[in-house]
Amino acid sequence: MGQNGTVDTPATGPNALVELDQVAYTYRTSGPPVPAIRRATGAFWAGRVYALTGRSGSGKSTLLTLLAGLDLPTSGEIRFDGVSLSRLDRDRYRRHQVGLIFQAFHLLPQLTAAENVMLAGEISGWPARGRMQRALELLERVGIDGTTARRRGLRLSGGEQQRVAMARALAPGPRLVLADEPTGNLDHETGEGITRLLGELAHRDGCCVVIASHSHAVASRADEVWVMRDGHLLPATTKVAGPAAGVADAANEVAPPADE
Ligand SMILES: Nc1ncnc2c1ncn2[C@@H]1O[C@H](COP(=O)(O)OP(=O)(O)OP(=O)(O)O)[C@@H](O)[C@H]1O
Ligand SMILES: [Mg+2]
Repeated sequence: MGQNGTVDTPATGPNALVELDQVAYTYRTSGPPVPAIRRATGAFWAGRVYALTGRSGSGKSTLLTLLAGLDLPTSGEIRFDGVSLSRLDRDRYRRHQVGLIFQAFHLLPQLTAAENVMLAGEISGWPARGRMQRALELLERVGIDGTTARRRGLRLSGGEQQRVAMARALAPGPRLVLADEPTGNLDHETGEGITRLLGELAHRDGCCVVIASHSHAVASRADEVWVMRDGHLLPATTKVAGPAAGVADAANEVAPPADE
C-alpha cells in the first residue's frame, strides 16, 4: 500500500496488458531439441518500461519473439488483454498491436527512409492524405531529419537504419513495443535518445515497452528489470531509487529457481 492507502500497482488499468503463464518454448532442430524458455511466468503492464537482461543465449530474443506472436509457446500461454495469443488472429495482432524493433531491421533498400515508414503506415491503415507528414514527424522523433528521411535505405548508416526501423515499428501506434538490443549499434548519445524515446512511449503514450538489452544504461532507466537465466524468467526487481539501482540487485540477489 502507498502512503495514502492507495495500492502501489504499476498498472494503468485493472489488468496487465500481457501475461505469461508457465510459458515454455523448445527449438526443434535436426540435433537435440533446445529448451530456450522454461516455465516463464510474469505480467507486463501498460505505461511501463521493462528491461529484460541476462547472458547471451539465456532466451531474451526467444521470449520477445513469443510476445510478438511470431510463434506460439510449446506449452503454457501468453495472454494479451486477457485473450490467449493462440486464440487471436496473430497476423492482425502483430500488425496492429505490436511494434517490433529487432536486431535485423530489414528496411526496403530501394525506398527512402520516409517511404519505408509510410509503407508501414499504409499497411496499418493510415489515410493517404498526410501520410508523408506523419512519416516525417515519426522520423523526427527518432532523430532523423527531413533531408536524411529522403535518402534511400541503402544510403543510411547502420544507426540511421536502426532508427528508421524504429519509426516504422511505431507507425501502427502499437500498444506493445518490443525492442531487441535497440541501442546496440548506436553511439552513446543516440542510444540515450532512443532509450528516452522508449521511456516516453510508455510514460506519455501508455505503451507497454519491453527491451531486451545487455546495456546498464537501458536497465537503469527501466521501471522494472527482469533477468533471464537459462530460459527461466526471474522475478522482477521493481526500481525505487535512482539510476543504476535495480540492475545489480536483479542480477545478483535473485536466487536461481530450483531445477525442474
Ligand atoms: N533458431 C534456433 N534454433 C535452435 N536454437 C536456437 C535458435 N535460436 C536460438 N536458439 C537457442 O535458444 C537459446 C536462447 O537464444 P536467444 O536468442 O533467445 O538468447 P538471447 O538471450 O537473446 O541471447 P543474446 O543476448 O546473445 O541475443 C540459445 O541456447 C540459442 O542457442
Ligand atoms: Mg538476443
